[in-house]
Amino acid sequence: VPGRPTHALDRHLALIGFMGAGKTTLGAALAGELARPFLDLDAEVERAAGTSIDRIFAEQGEPAFRALEERLTLEALARPGTSVLALGGGAVKSERVRVALARSALTLLVEVEVEQAWERVSGGQDREGFRKLFRERQHLYAAAADARVRDLEDALLAAAGIVVAAGSVARLGALLPEDVRVALVADEHVDRLHGATVREALGERLVSTHPLPSGEAAKSFDCYRTLLEQLRLERGDLIAGLGGGTTTDLAGFAAATYMRGVDWIAVPTTLVGQVDAAIGGKTAIDVEAGKNLVGAFHWPARVVIDPALLATLPPQQRREGMAEVVKTGLLAGEAVWERPDLELVRGCAAYKARVCMRDPRERGERAQLNLGHTFAHALEAAGDFGRPTHGEAVALGLLAALRLSLARGLDPATLELVRRTLDPQPVAVDRERAWTALQRDKKAAAGPRLVLLERPGRPLWGVRLPEDELRAALDDLIAAPAN
Ligand SMILES: NC(=O)c1ccc[n+]([C@@H]2O[C@H](COP(=O)([O-])OP(=O)(O)OC[C@H]3O[C@@H](n4cnc5c(N)ncnc54)[C@H](O)[C@@H]3O)[C@@H](O)[C@H]2O)c1
Repeated sequence: VPGRPTHALDRHLALIGFMGAGKTTLGAALAGELARPFLDLDAEVERAAGTSIDRIFAEQGEPAFRALEERLTLEALARPGTSVLALGGGAVKSERVRVALARSALTLLVEVEVEQAWERVSGGQDREGFRKLFRERQHLYAAAADARVRDLEDALLAAAGIVVAAGSVARLGALLPEDVRVALVADEHVDRLHGATVREALGERLVSTHPLPSGEAAKSFDCYRTLLEQLRLERGDLIAGLGGGTTTDLAGFAAATYMRGVDWIAVPTTLVGQVDAAIGGKTAIDVEAGKNLVGAFHWPARVVIDPALLATLPPQQRREGMAEVVKTGLLAGEAVWERPDLELVRGCAAYKARVCMRDPRERGERAQLNLGHTFAHALEAAGDFGRPTHGEAVALGLLAALRLSLARGLDPATLELVRRTLDPQPVAVDRERAWTALQRDKKAAAGPRLVLLERPGRPLWGVRLPEDELRAALDDLIAAPAN
């Protein structure tokens, strides 16, 4: 639908759907996860009327109920801020409510089977009438909904504008507003493997393609400048980044700065990209003075994740991603790495989306995503960003962070689990260079602030430790020089 919102970073989240779909339960859980206020409109109606909805129906009739419901729903939608609202089952019958939803909310349809809804609400109703009403409402819900959800993970992903589904890249066209034109920025290697699917999905909306070299070279100032000189977009058009984290970082940064900002979508094709880099709106390029030193926060209008694209990923690239998967699993308190690909990617993407929606500009809790990364950066810098690779360094960094967490009560079994899953091996880098880099970690003012883990699902961030403890933890990650 033209002009429809694609995410809820800066707007209300409205849950619609039939009675018994679970809007109230899901809405309360979603509000909790996103740290947003929650409003249940059925409860608001009962509070305003001072009696139950059944009695309003019985004593005043449906029109009186609908009028009160409409007024309270419009008031809730007109309030500033970003709340989660669970609407009444029939609220979208009102045209004024539908218009207000489109203007100020991302609308999620909570799906349910008619039989399940019947079991949940039961009592006092005629079953055939219930089924008929269910059927009649479906087109109204479909027309008002920006996304369909069944559970909390679905809702978190939809709130962030993320679609995770096998085959989603082939449906890319349908996931974008109808009338936008698209400039495709693609890793040239990935383009050869998957570009045709994207081109076909975009059809005539694709106005230009801009190849990027594979790997970190894409995030150079030269590539950035060349791309900006080539782009011929208008306001309202968008940039699509197809590739790993390097491609989406550059495409997103170009979008943040071209014409003072145009929309962009990320189509991540590596495990790193699908579980991490494409999510959360951080974009960047590298300059001489440092990696990721120039960038912007620019939330992607959509992130279209197709785990089927991972089939062509080389094993080494997959290992790179697994380090981030394990990190996310530790933060979330769930062994996501044991799930099959689609579920693994969904779980990680939903967790990162949740953290970044709560703290889009990294002012606080988003720092937890650096678990293991302080040590990793130091090792990478000491290895001139060659060996260890980022993934190898993160695996080692997780080991160090978890070892230091033992004193905070972390169960040694968690450390063992990470060791077994990632099998990190000490690397041969210069100890002094690594130590200097650790002390200069970009998040450091008076020594690095660490992320530790009290237990899986319970990270602590902003932790400072004495120098000798840090040094010992770093040294344990470094292989003794060969004699
Ligand atoms: N913005 C963020 O929040 C964030 C978070 C984490 C990492 N990053 C950035 O991400 C970058 C690393 O991303 P990456 O690991 O995806 O690296 P990458 O983009 O360099 O991709 C790795 C390699 O995999 C190839 N490839 C990609 N998809 C493929 C596929 N489906 N099949 C076969 N080959 C494929 C690429 O051609 C490339 O050679 C770094 O620059 C890092 O700074 C950003």
